[in-house]
Amino acid sequence: MVICKASDYKDLSRKAANIIAAQMILKPDCTLGLATGSSPVGTYEQLIERFKDGDLDFSRITSVNLDEYKGLAPDNDQSYRYFMNTNLFNHVNIDKAHTFVPDGLEPDAEKACREYDEIIENVGGIDLQLLGLGHNGHIGFNEPADSFSKGTNCVDLTESTIEANKRFFESEADVPRQAYTMGIRTIMLAKKILVVVSGKDKAEILKKVVCGPVTPEVPASVLQLHPDVTIVADSEACSLL
Ligand code: GLP
Repeated sequence: MVICKASDYKDLSRKAANIIAAQMILKPDCTLGLATGSSPVGTYEQLIERFKDGDLDFSRITSVNLDEYKGLAPDNDQSYRYFMNTNLFNHVNIDKAHTFVPDGLEPDAEKACREYDEIIENVGGIDLQLLGLGHNGHIGFNEPADSFSKGTNCVDLTESTIEANKRFFESEADVPRQAYTMGIRTIMLAKKILVVVSGKDKAEILKKVVCGPVTPEVPASVLQLHPDVTIVADSEACSLL
């Protein structure tokens, strides 16, 4: 596990974008696992800038996103498909037919999860997976549990996640209670993993993830067992390390 300390959010975003850019240059037809949340927004801005400068080409890139709220349509401005379109895809030359997000409108959870696993398998797995970190250690929407999840699964969001994510909705009641998320096993099968962590409120959980025991109670702690993980964190997030 490599921990790359950034001075602030801008620096974090530049460093994370450097790693993704290197991956894209070395393998122009790679599959990127992408994440939502506020942490990667600056990284996407950096990637867009580099595309506009002519340094990056997304035309042969495939992407698979970590998760989607169950029940939200792609054009709902709180859906993760909408997030990806507005924060990255609409601004670069990626072929949207090669971008995948779990189908939030599929009511049959088993079908939605099976189909998403098939998509990930068909694209040949993930070369580089970008992750944010939830306050309770969740990655994707894999919440603390008794065991690590395998493939895509439908999760009940915890109160703390609903609380953390309500800032994006009109009211807490509007936050969906369930989501489809890529499983921990799938994330662990990615060849490389890049985690972006920002802010003082993430310092405690980052310490547990990096220095604590590997336990499904802190889902991201499993990353200690992956052979190629880089955590890019700003100085506030690193303050307890
Ligand atoms: C959501 C997403 C996660 C993300 C987490 C942290 O729950 N499902 O993928 O990592 O939020 O978000 P933020 O980066 O806004 O703190």
